Amino acid sequence: MRDTDEKFTWPTVGLHWILAIAMIAMLVFGLYLEEMPRSPEKGELIGLHKSIGVMIFVLAVARVYLRFLNKFPRPMSVLTNWQEKLAKVTHWVLIIGTLLMPVSGVIMAIGGGHPVALFGLEFIVGTGVKNEILSNIGKAGHGLGGKLLILFVLFHFIGAIKRQFFDKDGTISRMLGIKVRAEHSIE
Ligand code: HEM
Ligand code: HEM
Repeated sequence: MRDTDEKFTWPTVGLHWILAIAMIAMLVFGLYLEEMPRSPEKGELIGLHKSIGVMIFVLAVARVYLRFLNKFPRPMSVLTNWQEKLAKVTHWVLIIGTLLMPVSGVIMAIGGGHPVALFGLEFIVGTGVKNEILSNIGKAGHGLGGKLLILFVLFHFIGAIKRQFFDKDGTISRMLGIKVRAEHSIE
């Protein structure tokens, strides 16, 4: 089952929207946690943030596999050189970000000696022993990565809206699984 220029398969569409909603929610969740003072309630919320993050990682790996099978979608219509480059870079940043955010989160947790559990099922045991180097690498990746990702999600969102509603080329329709007529396929 392969994506074509005219129609994307349901795994591409499903994974895109599940991960898009989950990633935006987790970026907001993370920023909220960052502002929250220490408390038992914050500890519980961090546990939830970590569990969702680990699930995102599993889905993100499946998505990367699909991207290697299918390659990135060709734009629906002919874009200017810089728009096409920005769209390409953005797709790469988003897909790598979906992997690196959970990975840096896990590194941060290990560095802090904290456990990582999937809804109570602990698969990285908390040692209570801090490792400053790991903790700093994880924190830098998670903090800067999160801010960079927000910027690129914005570029991505603006690009998608412009192409769907101003260029009217059906870019979002195709990502909703609707069969479209791509400019590339019109000979
Ligand atoms: C804000 C709402 C979003 C909208 C309206 C949207 C829309 C789209 C559309 C229309 C495409 C197809 C582009 C094309 O055909 O050239 C696409 C592709 C893509 N989007 Fe989004 N997107 C959104 C959020 C996100 C988020 C939050 C992420 C990840 C953090 C993301 C990651 C990707 C990736 C990696 C692709 C390349 C194709 C794929 O791997 O599925 N998107 N998006
Ligand atoms: C999957 C996508 C994820 C996204 C988009 C995300 C996003 C964020 C953001 C934006 C922050 C605030 C910036 C910061 O404090 O560094 C944050 C904080 C945090 N994240 Fe994540 N995160 C994800 C996954 C994870 C995972 C898998 C873990 C650990 C296993 C994790 C652990 C944490 C922790 C411990 C904090 C710090 C909360 C505090 O301020 O004390 N995150 N996250």
